[in-house]
Amino acid sequence: MTTSPTTPPAAAGTATTPASGATGAVGTAYPRVEGRAKVTGAARYAGEISFGELAHGWLVSSRITRGRIRSVESAPVLAMPGVLAVLHHGNAPRVDGDYTGPLGPPDPTILLFGDDRVPSAGWPVALVVAETSEQAREAAETLVVRYDEEPHDVEFRAGRPGTHTPPGMTREKGDLDAALAASAVVVDAEYTTPEEHHNPMEPHAATAFWDGGRLEVVDSNQSSMWVAEELAKLFSLDPAAVRVRSEHVGGAFGSKGVHPHQVAAVMAATLLRRPVRVVLTRRQMFSLIGHRSATAQRVRLGADADGRLRAIDHQAYSATSTVHEFVEQGADAARVLYDADAHHTGNHVVALDVPSPTFMRAPGMAPGSFALESALDELAERCGIDPIALRARNEPDVGPLSGLPFSSRNLLACFREGARRFGWADRDPRPGVRRAGRWLLGTGMAAASFPAGVAPSTAAVTAEADGTFTVRITAADLGTGARTALTSVAADALETTPDRVRVRIADSDFGRAWVAGGSMGTRSWAWAVIAAARALREQLDLGGGVPPQGITVRSDTTEAVAALAERERHSFGAQFASVAVDPASGEVRVRRMLGVFAAGRIVNPLTARSQLIGGMTWGLSMALHEEAVRDQASGGLVGADLASYHFAAHADVPVIEADWVDDPDDDDPVGIKGIGELGIVGAAAAIANAVWHATGVRHRHLPIRPDRILTA
Ligand code: MOS
Repeated sequence: MTTSPTTPPAAAGTATTPASGATGAVGTAYPRVEGRAKVTGAARYAGEISFGELAHGWLVSSRITRGRIRSVESAPVLAMPGVLAVLHHGNAPRVDGDYTGPLGPPDPTILLFGDDRVPSAGWPVALVVAETSEQAREAAETLVVRYDEEPHDVEFRAGRPGTHTPPGMTREKGDLDAALAASAVVVDAEYTTPEEHHNPMEPHAATAFWDGGRLEVVDSNQSSMWVAEELAKLFSLDPAAVRVRSEHVGGAFGSKGVHPHQVAAVMAATLLRRPVRVVLTRRQMFSLIGHRSATAQRVRLGADADGRLRAIDHQAYSATSTVHEFVEQGADAARVLYDADAHHTGNHVVALDVPSPTFMRAPGMAPGSFALESALDELAERCGIDPIALRARNEPDVGPLSGLPFSSRNLLACFREGARRFGWADRDPRPGVRRAGRWLLGTGMAAASFPAGVAPSTAAVTAEADGTFTVRITAADLGTGARTALTSVAADALETTPDRVRVRIADSDFGRAWVAGGSMGTRSWAWAVIAAARALREQLDLGGGVPPQGITVRSDTTEAVAALAERERHSFGAQFASVAVDPASGEVRVRRMLGVFAAGRIVNPLTARSQLIGGMTWGLSMALHEEAVRDQASGGLVGADLASYHFAAHADVPVIEADWVDDPDDDDPVGIKGIGELGIVGAAAAIANAVWHATGVRHRHLPIRPDRILTA
């Protein structure tokens, strides 16, 4: 990379001037800059990039759910054609798990082959490496592993023995019992959501190789820097000696962090001194990359007759593994959306013999909003007031528990615009009275909210001698259009057109940057890109031209982000759904979905709409289809594949409209908030509320399967 070492990092002030440059690229719809490469197949994904001397690793998954490995019978397999190695707890090098990463101590699931314990079904017990993928697979499927099996416990329910409340997981104000007792109307209901899986189209895949003294990994991930740093710690390497790249990613949704396949590939490449690729199978993805825990949530709402809330109590229960604690924080939604004198929320977890859960699109908020927004609908029914009016009546001026001002809060504007476009004013509130042939018809709505955060990042922008610009940042584009958004942001800040800007991402050598996660990617990266681009623009304006070798300016937003005023920062939205229910077959058809969002300044309307529609589609899938069934006897999943794990197909998905109201964040240089997760929040509740409106029956357990309609 061309650099000018004399250039200090650009100061990234808390710029409040919008970065609208000469081109107005931000706010204009652009197709993905890598779109042509993707649709022509020129874009290469981690599992299909060729390497000379490439060997293939195949993970062997435990057939038991709990116990110890007694023996791994490697000898017959080592004699099979092409087999190079069999790694397991008896012979693998030990990785160092004694560190604290950005998310705390590592999940022992990545401390590969560390001991003989099996804590969950599908646990990685061995890696077979062979000359070809087919040979590795055949040998892996032939490998005999013997176990001493122990009884397991995978049964989840609210408050079962072993449930605990981790530190910091409760927030409370006011006297709940007194407020409930003083309420004219009380809703007290339990809602459940099943175990759900994010299982992106592109499987997890990593190729590791040594280049001189450097470890290189070609991966598919949400942050090459994060993966590089963790691999350096696990293998006790100098961080500068590890380079991870992840140019194209075919979906991630929270599942593409550090998982056993990267560790396995590095282990084998180090032992064999040649490149080794490990690709997870679809079935392995159901046990090795995390999932969303099932939840059970009790919501109690107490209100005056006019719907004004006196009491909110939301207690959310979920499961984690016995080796790592991840809490699906369903109770968080209430902390932002509504105020009440007595306001209690808590997240509770029980450790079971299941694989570790992890972040999955809108962690906590997706299942939490189903419970809370269903309960609000029940309260509206009981009070006899319109569900939008109920929400407007309980709109807080400041953070209900924090007391902090909101950076902006345009939820009511979303309701107004959504109601207008959906035709809500004409709605007859009575349930179960609209028929069209065999179908019962209903409409429902729900509120949406997701944190709008920003985290420090670094970026570099180069003025090339040919008059174009190159941006380098360790961002990740999961298929969302992040690369394209950053191209627009950079073009405006550089006062040029997007076609003169090349954005290079997903290479840990580009320096520290936030992960593609928490709906914070584009905002965090854009800030760093703007800071570097503006400083470069200034240098060019002062210097009167680009030297033939180019100029590079770097930025670091650490100080600027730390200087942000303390505020409640969230995106908001209003979800609407129209459904038809066939009481004879139990089928629910969603006929229309509309989401209107207040999600900061929208950088690229084309890809932003796509993100929001994608989230809403997933909300439909969550409402009606998705459910991973854990077999109590075996401890494993019934049907760990995309044929058995039912999800919305094209025919299930109606016209989905996503739009937004003006909602710039004044503390952000572009006004961005983030849209990655907001679209799924509230979508399932809007559908469940519409099913009630159609049928007169509340469905508090997802998914709303035909048999649940029929037996209700
Ligand atoms: Mo997302 S679940 O923050 O990758």
